[in-house]
Amino acid sequence: MEFSRKCSLFAFLLFFVLLFCNNEVNASHEVFRKLQSLSTNIVRNLFRTGFHFQPPRHWINDPTGPMYYNGIYHLFYQYNPKGEVWGNIVWAHSVSVDLVNWINLEPAIYPSEAFDKYGTWSGSTTILPGNKPVILYTGIIDDEQSQVQNYAIPANLTDPFLRKWIKPDNNPLVVADQSINKTKFRDPTTAWLGQDGLWRMLVGSLRGRRGLALLYWSRDFMKWTKAKHPIHSSADTGNWECVDFFPVSLEHTDGLDTSSHGEKVKHVLKVSLDDTRYDYYTIGTYDTKKDRYTPDETMVDGWKGLRLDYGNFYASKTFYDPSKNRRILMGWANESDVVPTDAINKGWSGIQTIPRRLWLDPSGRHLVQWPVEELEHLRKQKVEIRNYRLNKGEKVEVEGITPAQADVEVTFSFSSLENAEEFDPSWADLYAQDVCGFRGSTVQGGLGPFGLLTLSSENLEEYTPVFFRVFKTQDKYKVLMCSDASRSSVRNHKKMYKPSFAGYVDVDLTNKTLSLRSLIDHSVVESFGAGGKTVITSRVYPALSIYNDTHLFAFNNGTETVRIENLDAWSMDKCDR
Ligand code: FRU
Repeated sequence: MEFSRKCSLFAFLLFFVLLFCNNEVNASHEVFRKLQSLSTNIVRNLFRTGFHFQPPRHWINDPTGPMYYNGIYHLFYQYNPKGEVWGNIVWAHSVSVDLVNWINLEPAIYPSEAFDKYGTWSGSTTILPGNKPVILYTGIIDDEQSQVQNYAIPANLTDPFLRKWIKPDNNPLVVADQSINKTKFRDPTTAWLGQDGLWRMLVGSLRGRRGLALLYWSRDFMKWTKAKHPIHSSADTGNWECVDFFPVSLEHTDGLDTSSHGEKVKHVLKVSLDDTRYDYYTIGTYDTKKDRYTPDETMVDGWKGLRLDYGNFYASKTFYDPSKNRRILMGWANESDVVPTDAINKGWSGIQTIPRRLWLDPSGRHLVQWPVEELEHLRKQKVEIRNYRLNKGEKVEVEGITPAQADVEVTFSFSSLENAEEFDPSWADLYAQDVCGFRGSTVQGGLGPFGLLTLSSENLEEYTPVFFRVFKTQDKYKVLMCSDASRSSVRNHKKMYKPSFAGYVDVDLTNKTLSLRSLIDHSVVESFGAGGKTVITSRVYPALSIYNDTHLFAFNNGTETVRIENLDAWSMDKCDR
């Protein structure tokens, strides 16, 4: 049979499979049972990224247990070795010396024992005294998806890549007691050691609609006891997945080991909300005596709270990197083309964001994130724009680099804040994303919208603008940052999610400048506003602005003139992975 007929026959069969396949929502992932182990064996390059982490093929989700060990970074991640949709989940394993180029290894953990036969779900790593790494992960033990917490250890500590992991017979370490909903009991955190010599770890859960971070204690890491109270919980936030709990310094931007505490240390609690599929965090105080965490007064638990990233970003995890004294964050940037046929056609689904260094802003009000410095080694051809005026309605093209695979840093300045538009008080209750929805990049403003038009086609039939709008409120200014996918593709696919992602930027405008960095990589735009105070990742699928037909512009659609103080843009090399 000639190739094209074979393809149409396959497409026809696939259509039938899809038509009759049952789908359900589970563990925050849509489950397409009949598609879980179906693969076309085709991997399409269109939309594959150049310098983001993704395996050669198939489905990925959460980064689980990233760690630094003896000079090597390890990334484990949830992976379906058989297909492009969620299912058959194993702990895939890659290693790196620079967090940018990766070597793919065999899966570290896969279902095999009574305590994980139905799934090896997310968790984390802890380095025990004596420099001994241990993985904590959630095992699925039956068809109802009952969850227990297990551990695994390296088979051979002298193997620099720690390729083989053993699941000792005394697993599971923790099972759900009567009070716990055992199908919502997962993703153990990195453990930390208290001054009393007890280890602590958290497990995400829920009671009714209340999200919980259950706390467990252990003296020897093997026998764990549940504390009477969760370390923290919050009403009406739904199930908490992939909880992360770590210290940040009030004095400097270095990272801290997870067991650090003290007067000049605050704690961050991050939860991945199953209901919304975004990552939220609060900054607060961890009372080590009572083993309770209390968010600071200005912090909001749940959907109206701070987000690590206001875009496609979920199930993130941090780790402490002692080699460079930094805390690193990685997250899963899921696809926005949510129809399973899209994933199957591509032969892959999901990427990990660029690892970001993360620290506490000196204000104490939010975290700051910045791509790891190692990424800069991939920068190639560079172009610059200096001191360029953008009057109302003007734009300038950034030429001389590959705009589909680029790193751009720009600082805009303006001479006055006078023209900033009024912030309608009725918008105060809305999400930033809603405001961006109706005050988008083409709606003329006073000060802004100005920013970048990424992944643009030549005549702007499609583009993903990343921009600021400055608003005046009663006695101050409010800066909105948007990464708007609504015009990212002329493909009009009903189920393609094209949100106008947005967040507010807590930035001082005294020196009348705003900076932006965007990492543009074919189907992803990862943007850092005001030095990383607000971060937004968009996944997009352009039809026209692909490869060499992609353009990059800086633009201003506000009445106030803005100036590009400096813009540096680089073509980016591919990474190994
Ligand atoms: C988050 C999550 C985790 C779970 C894993 C399963 O995306 O649902 O809670 O452990 O994915 O793959």
